[in-house]
Amino acid sequence: MTEIDFDPFDAAHRADPYPYYRRLRETAPVWRSPRGAWVLTRYHDCTQVFRDPRFGHGSRQRLLDDSKWRRPAPGKAMPFILLDPPEHTRQRSLVNKAFTPRRVQRLEPWIRRLIDSMLEEAVERGEVDLVETFAHPLPATVISELLGVPVRDREMVREWSRVIARGVDPDYQHSPEQKEERNRALAAFDGYFRELVADRRRTGGDDLLTELIAARDNGSALSEGELLATCTMIYVAGHETTTDLLSNGTLALLRNPGELKRLRDDPGLFTSAVEEFLRYDPPTQLTRRTVLSDLTLDGHEFRRGEQVVLVRGAANRDPEVFPDPDRLDVGRSPNRHIAFDGGPHFCLGAGLARLEGRLAFEALVSKARTIEAATDSIAYKDNLTIRGPKELLVRLTRA
Ligand code: HEM
Repeated sequence: MTEIDFDPFDAAHRADPYPYYRRLRETAPVWRSPRGAWVLTRYHDCTQVFRDPRFGHGSRQRLLDDSKWRRPAPGKAMPFILLDPPEHTRQRSLVNKAFTPRRVQRLEPWIRRLIDSMLEEAVERGEVDLVETFAHPLPATVISELLGVPVRDREMVREWSRVIARGVDPDYQHSPEQKEERNRALAAFDGYFRELVADRRRTGGDDLLTELIAARDNGSALSEGELLATCTMIYVAGHETTTDLLSNGTLALLRNPGELKRLRDDPGLFTSAVEEFLRYDPPTQLTRRTVLSDLTLDGHEFRRGEQVVLVRGAANRDPEVFPDPDRLDVGRSPNRHIAFDGGPHFCLGAGLARLEGRLAFEALVSKARTIEAATDSIAYKDNLTIRGPKELLVRLTRA
């Protein structure tokens, strides 16, 4: 199988990875890459791995005896996105007590006003980089508001998040300088939230952070380290991903004007359109798991400790599940994409992301009578786990 020249992290297919994905899914859906990782591209294989407890992150509570497994630096906690049950379950259920659908709903009018003012300004200017003026600041401002980050600090925190998000690919992808920059941003984030937590412990507030501090479940609470790891995770997991939902979705509409027209004609389609953007060009293309005990999958022997790469972008276009998968269809139903994962790590912020996505596209389509690409060339971020354009120059005319 080595004749397949596929490396999911290869920069060559950043602009359009989907032909590569298709070729791999058709010729070697369970493939051992030259780096030794298993690469899965079929929908059913990916969803099976999400749910199967024999795959996980190999986190410390299971594999304490084995030094090659990931573990946090002394005095630090791992974000629970990288933990396995039962530790993952304990922390996630504590966070669930604070991060409720009601808290998200309460933000809706405020998010709507924020979107309106950002897009008013964009339409007024006519030609803008939609990433810089809208898709990047919007989710950052929303998460800042949610967590209780004061307005004066939001720019600074957003910049750290940008650096951290650039660093989520495997370490071999980064130069020593990039790793150092990422580690500095992580340390800055940590120090900042340590002070914010101390402040909320003293004075309290009407925000998620205050509720995360207060959350109790059977006498258990998040430790200081767990709180800090959770804040960073919520911010970073919810920021760059939502940015890419907004920019990948806009790009998909620019390239499929018939679908944009369908949305204008039938505003009832915005909810399914957001799901389709998530399927068609998902913000997180890949995820990794570790084999926790030996097993056989599709006739292949998987050994404990081996790495598995699940290619979400490929699974979301598996024709076994999605008819005519390369076609953007804003009314697609059913649409059981895995852009938010599946199993125990299903995205905790999916409700918020869906809300932001729907409100953003509704406002964009209703405020701009025309939306056109102002350039043909799209440069993608130097990151393959999180996929989205660096900038998106568009011309908007007022409706
Ligand atoms: C379009 C936007 C978003 C996408 C595509 C997305 C996608 C995902 C995916 C795929 C995972 C699972 C990762 C894995 O298992 O490897 C995940 C987990 C998570 N997401 Fe999101 N996410 C989005 C927005 C958000 C938002 C807005 C928040 C919070 C404000 C958030 C918070 C989280 C958290 C905390 C987890 C960890 C859940 C766990 O491990 O139990 N996400 N997200």
